[in-house]
Amino acid sequence: MKLIFLGPPGAGKGTLAAKAVDILNLPHISTGAIFRSAMAAATPLGLKVKAIVESGKLVDDATTIELVKERLAQDDTKKGYILDGFPRTIPQAQALAKFSSVDKVVNFELPDSAVLERLGGRRVCRKCGHNFHMIFDKPKKENVCDHCGGEVYTRDDDRPEAIEKRLEVYRAQTAPLIEFYRGKGLLVDVDARPAVDKVVENFKRSLGM
Ligand code: AP5
Repeated sequence: MKLIFLGPPGAGKGTLAAKAVDILNLPHISTGAIFRSAMAAATPLGLKVKAIVESGKLVDDATTIELVKERLAQDDTKKGYILDGFPRTIPQAQALAKFSSVDKVVNFELPDSAVLERLGGRRVCRKCGHNFHMIFDKPKKENVCDHCGGEVYTRDDDRPEAIEKRLEVYRAQTAPLIEFYRGKGLLVDVDARPAVDKVVENFKRSLGM
């Protein structure tokens, strides 16, 4: 099954994808995570995108499309994939349609007030990428990942001004994808407001599981 996870920043796409990987046995491909690991390793890609990602703006379409095209050409995606954070613009969606055909687009719905609460409290493991939250899902030991012992930190784009920018970019450039995919009969809506286990149930139901 080839799935796209769509939704505003902080809707829980990454958190749900980590659960869906076990349920569906598919690779999780997050463009945001690919950019962050390139930034951490200071590769040419990481150096190119660092200032853009940290400010909450989008990386240019050509760079992002090429990255995803190369990733989807790898063998592990033959049985399907969960594409998290791509496409994020209409040109990206049009490009994707030329090199892969998606089965469903899962649209995680969350109001802005909840976005601010989730991103404001988010902490991430630098080593394994696990998402924590200072209210909903705190690491047992302060700043230490429960899963791998890595350092837990606050993403640079989770500063209030970057969150505001990401929401603005989402409304202008990404939200139009909802009607784009609805028009193609591919969209399923999932209420992302409840606790994670309930959102997992909503997600499974949306796929008829
Ligand atoms: P990306 O990493 O994709 O950021 P995003 O879309 O803004 O999504 P987030 O990772 O912020 O949120 P999420 O929905 O995954 O929520 P999460 O599960 O973490 O992209 C980062 C940047 O990279 C972009 O701004 C851009 O610069 C660049 N980029 C990436 N893709 C691009 C593209 N295609 N084109 C151009 N540029 C691109 O959850 C958030 C928090 O809430 C966590 O703390 C979690 O623990 C908590 N939480 C989750 N679910 C629940 C729940 N149900 N109840 C309570 N708490 C919850």
